[in-house]
Amino acid sequence: MTGTREKQSDKAIEQRMQQLADEIEKHNKAYYVDNNPTISDELYDSMFQELVRLEQQYPQYKTLFSPTERVGASVKAEILKVKHVIPMLSIHTETDYTAQGAYDFDERVRRELELKADAAPIEYDCELKFDGLAINIRYEKGILVQAATRGDGYEGEDVTANVRTIKTLPLKVEGFPDVFEVRGEVILHKSEFERINREQKEKGLKLFANPRNAAAGCLRQLDPSITAERNLSFYAYGYGEVSEALAKTQYELLTYLKEKGFPVADTRRLAYGPKELQEFHVLVEKIRDDLPFDIDGVVYKVNSFALQKTLGFVSREPRWACAHKYPPQEVQTIVQDITIQVGRTGKLTPVARLKPVFVGGTTISNASLHNEEFLENMGVKIGDTVVVRRAGDVIPEIVRVIKELRPANARDFVMPDFCPVCGSHAYKEEGEKDRKCTGGLFCQAQRVQSILHFVSRKAMGIDGIGEKLAEQLVTKGLVENISDIYRLKKEQIKGLEKMGDKSSDNLIASIEKSKNTTLERFLYAIGIPDVGESTARTLAQHFKTLKNCQSAGLEQLLEVDDVGESTAEKILHFFAEEKNIKVITELQELGVHWEETEAGREQEQVFAGMTFVLTGTLPRLSRDEASDIIRKAGGKVSGSVSKKTTYVLAGDAAGSKLEKAHALGVKVIDEAELMNMLSKDNETNE
Ligand code: IVH
Repeated sequence: MTGTREKQSDKAIEQRMQQLADEIEKHNKAYYVDNNPTISDELYDSMFQELVRLEQQYPQYKTLFSPTERVGASVKAEILKVKHVIPMLSIHTETDYTAQGAYDFDERVRRELELKADAAPIEYDCELKFDGLAINIRYEKGILVQAATRGDGYEGEDVTANVRTIKTLPLKVEGFPDVFEVRGEVILHKSEFERINREQKEKGLKLFANPRNAAAGCLRQLDPSITAERNLSFYAYGYGEVSEALAKTQYELLTYLKEKGFPVADTRRLAYGPKELQEFHVLVEKIRDDLPFDIDGVVYKVNSFALQKTLGFVSREPRWACAHKYPPQEVQTIVQDITIQVGRTGKLTPVARLKPVFVGGTTISNASLHNEEFLENMGVKIGDTVVVRRAGDVIPEIVRVIKELRPANARDFVMPDFCPVCGSHAYKEEGEKDRKCTGGLFCQAQRVQSILHFVSRKAMGIDGIGEKLAEQLVTKGLVENISDIYRLKKEQIKGLEKMGDKSSDNLIASIEKSKNTTLERFLYAIGIPDVGESTARTLAQHFKTLKNCQSAGLEQLLEVDDVGESTAEKILHFFAEEKNIKVITELQELGVHWEETEAGREQEQVFAGMTFVLTGTLPRLSRDEASDIIRKAGGKVSGSVSKKTTYVLAGDAAGSKLEKAHALGVKVIDEAELMNMLSKDNETNE
């Protein structure tokens, strides 16, 4: 008997292996996707074992898409980067949780499409908003060849081996186009998350905060056999690069993907007009807790791909889609203490120290009480039970005190008259909400905070100074005011905690590099109260030189876009303060400089009156750098292409903005042409 089996032709063995593989995949789908197993676990296991045996004996017949491959890959040393052919964008989030959110979105879409009031309702596809990780899975000739995380939208990480372990995902798809990138979300079911955390606890390992974090950890595992033990799931909701268009609508696309064996959530439906969108929102809220996985809202998408194309994108978000979230989750906890934090401007903020609670996906232990007025209105005492709320990534807040639960020994908190950090007087000016420390740069807390602001990415962009180092620089007396940063010597830094030879060199180099800056960064960095990065930019564009800005009076300041009376006053005060002028002068003497575009130096303004839209990845410049160059030369940078756009500056992997530019006949240029335009005009003007 065995003899006959051994004599089987190679062809027959290959065929048997193929049949086993197909059969196992079929049962994988029945079991994991449809929740409807048709054979016993024993039978499944015996088929699987037979396939493993045959593959060991006849490796030449083993395929890349064999079900055994889902766990077979070896441990990797590092995660590689992958560039997305089509960028992976984000969705606009509707912050109004009420029905209004759905109506606002519909209204925006209708306005963009220039529809008349009596035009027919728009057809939308309504989906769940999975709370997991976006992933792009590339199939070539029907075979799963690569999976990558979203990353920054343009470049993600290669997670192919780990994604292969997802049993609900087909490794091979019959009749798929030559190239098809399926997009969707990798998530962990709640039950699986609980099981993993139970095991982590038993092993004395760190617990995952929520299913999303656990899923992220599994995806980035270097050893796919560990990922395989943690049953990740995948749900499809879109596509990336495709060699052939197969659907005309989002709904059709998902139906097609489902037919091809991809998991697609059953909770989806078509809706006509905003009322039906809202009905879906309400329906999902009701079933939310019964779903096997976490969601953080629903997604509405204009169903027709043709209309999606017309609508296009604004910055990195499609105009045709919108995420509609649910009201933040609220829980109860206890205020164990109230302490004071001192900020950069000396503001004293009372902070409630809470008994840690799990809300909105994470554990929180602090909540800001903002100021005395808030404290008073809330009437919160130490020992009180309070309701805290955490909405998405927003900072947790206390919503109300449950006075019924107040213990007899609850204590009042009184704002201090002295700064808890430096002991200087702290008081509240007439009409102001905030109590402030009068210590100024004598106060260590203020010094540390102003250093952190000054070096931050959008200010001077100095890498390598975090809170710990800033504290040391202050306590060791190395930095009294921000200009001292430019006086730091390597030998002084090297001795500090966690600062070796290399990191000290890097820091010095970064400080040196930061000297070459722009007026807008400088205005933001010096920390004028109320002047954020956007106001700093408008000030720089308006006044062109620091001198103009510094000497501007109230009237002139009020002429600047988005500078109101209160901000104008603050700017005036700031420049009237002698110690501020001293720091500014010192910074310049120490080498901080920027190119000043004096009004009248026409060659700098070659892009005056022009609007640019950036798309894709440029070969040399980052988006921020390219935008800086355009703005400096008088141009505007906008997020979306319209007839008013002068040029679309396109790089690699440019998306639909490029398509829209072609459709509207807007001229498309590349980085080299942009630089050419700049230098040409300079030549002619000189
Ligand atoms: S569509 C261009 N559909 O939400 C639009 N995204 O903020 C591409 N997400 O990174 C996304 N559920 O991870 C889409 N049904 C759904 C989704 C969904 C969750 C996530 C996705 C994306 C983020 C967008």
